[in-house]
Amino acid sequence: MSIDTTTEDIDRELDALGAALAIDDATADLLFREAHTTYGYADEPVTDEQVRAAWDLVRWAPTMMNSLPMRLLVVRSDEGKQRLAAHMAEGNRQSVLDAPVTIVAAADPAFHRHFKTLAPFREDAEEQFEAMGEAREGLARTSSLIQVGYLILGLRAAGLAVGPKTGFDAAGLDADLLADKGWKSLVVITAGVAAPEGAHKPRQARLDFETVAEVI
Ligand SMILES: Cc1cc2nc3c(=O)[nH]c(=O)nc-3n(C[C@H](O)[C@H](O)[C@H](O)COP(=O)(O)O)c2cc1C
Repeated sequence: MSIDTTTEDIDRELDALGAALAIDDATADLLFREAHTTYGYADEPVTDEQVRAAWDLVRWAPTMMNSLPMRLLVVRSDEGKQRLAAHMAEGNRQSVLDAPVTIVAAADPAFHRHFKTLAPFREDAEEQFEAMGEAREGLARTSSLIQVGYLILGLRAAGLAVGPKTGFDAAGLDADLLADKGWKSLVVITAGVAAPEGAHKPRQARLDFETVAEVI
């Protein structure tokens, strides 16, 4: 784009890019372009159906060997919020207390126990992955992190404003809230209806295709 670029030029370029998408503008805006990381929430509830609908959508997205290793701790109660908030970095604490629902997205190192259902095409998968021991946790983390991205978009598809956070004491959170399950926390995601004022920070720039991609 040159210094002579007009707003009409930019509109034309955006129209051309929009035409290359297989989703409509409203969906692209809801999931990406108009969606903002959210810090302040209105006093409106999030239903169980919304959270379940988000999961029912994103479970179809791909993971290694269809392993679906991400697990969710859905925190709704005041007691649960207080316990979770205690492990958050100070700047992340208030959002967790204010949001109607916060989801701790975690990785399950024992994900292979479901292979008979999820990957029946590989009869020996459960035994093979059992033999991996601690190395399995790395695999769990990789596919779970991919699923976290899907989940953020799934929650947005369910009409929710979300705030993902990695600023927390993962070891403390795991020992307090996940020890009985053996899950490893990855990202804490607040969810709700955005407050009418001050819900998010100003949008910052994004990198363009030329900066992030090399075509060979
Ligand atoms: C994996 C991940 C971790 C993040 N951790 C934090 C966090 O600990 N605290 C925080 O305030 N924001 C956190 N953020 C929010 C990002 O800063 C924010 O999503 C990004 O700047 C884009 O903002 P926008 O959606 O308003 O454009 C995190 C986002 C992601 C995806």
